[in-house]
Amino acid sequence: MSNLEALDLDYAQLGTTGLQTSELQFGTWRFGKETEEGNVEIDEERAYELLDGYEAAGGRYIDTADIYGGGASERWIGNWLEDRDRHRYTIASKIFWQTREEDPNSRGTNRKNVRQRVDGILDRLDTDYVDVLYIHRWDDQTSAREMMKTLNGLVESGKVNYLGASTLRPNAWKVAKANEIARSEGWEPFTVLQPRYNLVDREIEGDYLEMARSEGLAVCPWSPLGQGFLTGKYSREDGLTGESRAAESSRFEEGYLTEENFDLHDELDAVAEEVDATPAQTALAWLMHRDGVTAPIVGARTVDQLEENLAAAEIDLSDEQVERLTEAKGGPYAGL
Ligand SMILES: NC(=O)c1ccc[n+]([C@@H]2O[C@H](COP(=O)([O-])OP(=O)(O)OC[C@H]3O[C@@H](n4cnc5c(N)ncnc54)[C@H](OP(=O)(O)O)[C@@H]3O)[C@@H](O)[C@H]2O)c1
Repeated sequence: MSNLEALDLDYAQLGTTGLQTSELQFGTWRFGKETEEGNVEIDEERAYELLDGYEAAGGRYIDTADIYGGGASERWIGNWLEDRDRHRYTIASKIFWQTREEDPNSRGTNRKNVRQRVDGILDRLDTDYVDVLYIHRWDDQTSAREMMKTLNGLVESGKVNYLGASTLRPNAWKVAKANEIARSEGWEPFTVLQPRYNLVDREIEGDYLEMARSEGLAVCPWSPLGQGFLTGKYSREDGLTGESRAAESSRFEEGYLTEENFDLHDELDAVAEEVDATPAQTALAWLMHRDGVTAPIVGARTVDQLEENLAAAEIDLSDEQVERLTEAKGGPYAGL
């Protein structure tokens, strides 16, 4: 298999947990995901090829969620793990979004939903435990006390090893407050964060990253390539190419394909050329060089994309290059 074996991804400490994460995690959001036109972004066969590719590169940290592909992502990961030593891999999954129509209790972090959803995760992954359980979003209908007590119970029962919060910037204080409650009660706190963070989406810079630092939380950014915008596949002239999933999303168009962001991309292209790398690799390398970032979650629709992205781990940027990219801020992300 190509050059993936030669990559040999490194490990990084997962915040204040005792766990080591691969320096680039692998995201499976698009496994079994249907586009608005009814096409599957990544089918089962491709999913196994991508998992094989990530493994060949030394990757051992797989990110999923119970809603990805309506459960297909977890099922396929479970199948793939069947003839492997499951303990060799770190699996993170997430719960939150409503799963049953007209059943408000099938959403969020209430005790009933959390317990049932985690059992579903273990069932589909065909495993006894999940390494990191994230709340996918913040649930304002459930008290932090109920949520943290329930999550702590899962850790105590051995179904979950660590707790994570995948939230957006405005929830920084809520995470800190929930952790305060957990610690005062001797419960397990959140130790991992999963925010959206890339060269364009910078909203976590400031109080969110400061909170992460002060709490000693690992930060594992999602959409590190701005859903493909930072790969160089879009241009001012042609805009959406129709060659990608993102091309079907108006949110993507509004969020990323702006003049300011193309200006930022010009600087990305310039730095990429200096370090003899692709824009995607350079954007990922920038993220890996950022203070407070533990391990970005790489997404890829093809094995070629995966190989290109994982090779970012070998790109070294000077302080001056990191600074130039940091300063080349695009417009604020307006798609969500
Ligand atoms: N917690 C959350 O709420 C949340 C939300 C989103 C994602 N995530 C996690 O983060 C992971 C990564 O997110 P993401 O998929 O948005 O990441 P991303 O890296 O920003 O975007 C990945 C997409 O960009 C395109 N792409 C990637 N590498 C490329 C390359 N080298 N050349 C050309 N195009 C390339 C591909 O789509 P096309 O080929 O179709 O353009 C690919 O599917 C997910 O799988 C999931 O595990 C979590």
